[in-house]
Amino acid sequence: MKISMIVAYGKNWEIGLNNEMLWHISEDFKNFKTITSGHHILMGRKTFESIGKPLPNRTSLVLSNKGFKHEGVHTFNDIQEAFNFARASAEEELFIIGGANIYETLFPYVDKLYLSEVDFEGVADAFLNPIDFSTWDLSEEKSYDAILEHGKIKSPAWKFKVWVKKD
Ligand SMILES: NC(=O)c1ccc[n+]([C@@H]2O[C@H](COP(=O)([O-])OP(=O)(O)OC[C@H]3O[C@@H](n4cnc5c(N)ncnc54)[C@H](OP(=O)(O)O)[C@@H]3O)[C@@H](O)[C@H]2O)c1
Repeated sequence: MKISMIVAYGKNWEIGLNNEMLWHISEDFKNFKTITSGHHILMGRKTFESIGKPLPNRTSLVLSNKGFKHEGVHTFNDIQEAFNFARASAEEELFIIGGANIYETLFPYVDKLYLSEVDFEGVADAFLNPIDFSTWDLSEEKSYDAILEHGKIKSPAWKFKVWVKKD
């Protein structure tokens, strides 16, 4: 089973504030939905609470040490147990979808990165650890323009990149 990580981050590696996202980019949400649909998605308890419900057409796995429970999600207090659950369901690509704590802990297991680099700088309380791309090969790249409304930025510009870990 391949383990992938999908995340959107700003210029200073910022990913969230007050348990919420820092921007609204509908094209990025659509992209996230297309990429993760049909797969197991693994997240931390705080990210699940931020989303608030299991995402449709995906199997939600939530990590919690406090025995968190919610209808429609599978909770684990052990990373390997979560991986094993996905493997036992014949998953071929498990997606780690955040947040900061989970990205940091699970990064050593990741084989493939789906990154949205957002043209955003601002206050944040959740960050990604900077990634050293020297051990990764770029396999896909696409740029998206900002969307303006009445001369103001409604949705920032962003780049979507896929990286595969070097052998
Ligand atoms: N930009 C993006 O792409 C993106 C994506 C996702 C999330 N985010 C943002 O990230 C922020 C949330 O990140 P966060 O770091 O605060 O929280 P988080 O990573 O979502 O969740 C942390 C929680 O996960 C559980 N946990 C962590 N490691 C565990 C382990 N090894 N075993 C069992 N349980 C474990 C613990 O839950 P218990 O306390 O229940 O034990 C811990 O409190 C929010 O601002 C959110 O909007 C951004």
